[in-house]
Amino acid sequence: MTHEQILEILNFRHACKEFDSSKKISDSDFEIILKGGQLSPSSMGIEPWKFLVIQNESLREELATVSWGGKKQIPSCSHLVILLSRMPKELKHDSSYIHHLLTDVKQMPQEAIENFKGVIKMIEDTRFQNNEQALLNYSCLQTYIAAANMMTVSAMQQIDSCAMGGYDQEAVEEILIKHNLLNKDEFYLTLMIAFGYRINEPTPKTRQSLNDLVVWVK
Ligand SMILES: Cc1cc2nc3c(=O)[nH]c(=O)nc-3n(C[C@H](O)[C@H](O)[C@H](O)COP(=O)(O)O)c2cc1C
Repeated sequence: MTHEQILEILNFRHACKEFDSSKKISDSDFEIILKGGQLSPSSMGIEPWKFLVIQNESLREELATVSWGGKKQIPSCSHLVILLSRMPKELKHDSSYIHHLLTDVKQMPQEAIENFKGVIKMIEDTRFQNNEQALLNYSCLQTYIAAANMMTVSAMQQIDSCAMGGYDQEAVEEILIKHNLLNKDEFYLTLMIAFGYRINEPTPKTRQSLNDLVVWVK
């Protein structure tokens, strides 16, 4: 891939404000977008995310009423993804989720599992000092990495997207709970992303110059 092609992909991605609702993303293209999330890096490899794909129209209408940042995107997009992050207690060294991850997913030997849990405990006690809010923020930061990768992979396939944090947190949570899609003991509502095909051309991108963003230390 050339530098021009890479820049083309990065410039293709923009916060799409309205999608062409007649155009649907194919199953295989969408699976690659999901893979972009699944294969993302996360601290200690704990994959603290979950992706809800909301294709039910009436549920989307409900969500749009409490999402000022996605009023047009949510009903018109081809696929709506709600990203959840694991709650702090889920990420503790002695949680059943961490045990499942190390045992069933990573298939670590017993000794390595105990070592790994020890490192997690050390991080809980030192970096986070058992501060639940700090741990929740850290969990959400990992999910944002998955979100970014999903949007870039989407743009690589010339599929548009819009990250949306513009919603009433409590109201969206209530809707998800009502539909048995969220257990607040386990997950925290983190971000929505709409995927689909643009109906309007975007305005040109504005960005600070690299000179203003980058400090070289030589
Ligand atoms: C975490 C996050 C939340 C955002 N929330 C919204 C939103 O609710 N509605 C919206 O239209 N755009 C939203 N955006 C898009 C940004 O406004 C947009 O990415 C930014 O202005 C840069 O423009 P560009 O993405 O078109 O390059 C969000 C972006 C991020 C990363």
